[in-house]
Amino acid sequence: MAIETVGVVGGGLMGSGIAQVAAAAGFRTRLREMTPALASQARARVVRSLSIGVDKGKVTPEQRDATLGRLSTGTDVSEIATCDIVIEAVVEDLAVKTALWQELDRLAPPDTIFASNTSSLTIADMAVSSGRPDRVVGLHFFNPVPLMALVEVVRAITTSDATVRTATEFVRRLGKQPIAARDTSGFVVNRLLIPYMLDAIRAVEHGVASVADIDTGMRLGAGHPMGPLTLLDFVGLDTTLRIAEIMYTEFRETRFAPPPLLRQMVTAGMFGRKSGRGFYDYSVEPPRATPLLTA
Ligand code: 3HC
Repeated sequence: MAIETVGVVGGGLMGSGIAQVAAAAGFRTRLREMTPALASQARARVVRSLSIGVDKGKVTPEQRDATLGRLSTGTDVSEIATCDIVIEAVVEDLAVKTALWQELDRLAPPDTIFASNTSSLTIADMAVSSGRPDRVVGLHFFNPVPLMALVEVVRAITTSDATVRTATEFVRRLGKQPIAARDTSGFVVNRLLIPYMLDAIRAVEHGVASVADIDTGMRLGAGHPMGPLTLLDFVGLDTTLRIAEIMYTEFRETRFAPPPLLRQMVTAGMFGRKSGRGFYDYSVEPPRATPLLTA
């Protein structure tokens, strides 16, 4: 089956990025959000990202306009159901995702592929209640989606060979590099990245070094593009806590256990860049490390 049209549900950071790369790759793309205001915010996010691309000389004005011309945004689920593949990037909550797939299963033709951008839930849990377990697959993108080259293609125990083939080919047509991952919580990247980021928080808790020096250490000592605490602010501390909780529940291994400082920061609304403060304070330029553990 060749994919021509793409539906994306959820217009946050990930969903709007996925919709952008699909439209940029030539697919007619529909992005669905809960309310008209959220739908226009999602479109504005895509416009902003494409405009930065134009400013940086990576996207031509013609490509920006053509991409936006292929992207429609709205609140109607039935429009999404006419697409050849639907990718969900809604909140990391199995009940919410399952309800969405059940609604879409009633509306979509039987061969439509359902893909989840979950970071830590198990694809099989969604597949079994979707009404089409052979056509459900994981497509895990990375933030910022337009810049990150990887997509994990996750095969649930129920996913058919044909669905995996079509999904993998679709990822290539997006200009991304697919890797095949087993349906185990966190797949490849988060299985390694989440304990690494949690360990960086533990290093702060134990006073190993300052926030800025831990980041500088990993940037200059290990060649990472961002230090782990900057990355946590970028991913979102609330998102990381949710993923860690799901992975800890799944594996019961202490490396996935959220450190107390992470919970406290989330409780205090320090979600990272999205809330203006996390390990760094983004109200100043350049961002300054937040004093966290002063007695
Ligand atoms: N459109 C097109 N191109 C753009 C662009 C845009 N909007 N914005 C930037 N670019 C281009 C730039 O021109 C530049 O190209 P060049 O290398 O050819 O010069 C390149 O993208 C890098 O951009 P910048 O120079 O502005 O920015 P940085 O060099 O600081 O890189 C970054 C930014 C790519 C975000 C880098 O810091 C990075 O890779 N950070 C790590 C991100 C990461 O690890 N993400 C994964 C998070 S985990 C996740 O998502 C999983 C989830 O489940 C939690």
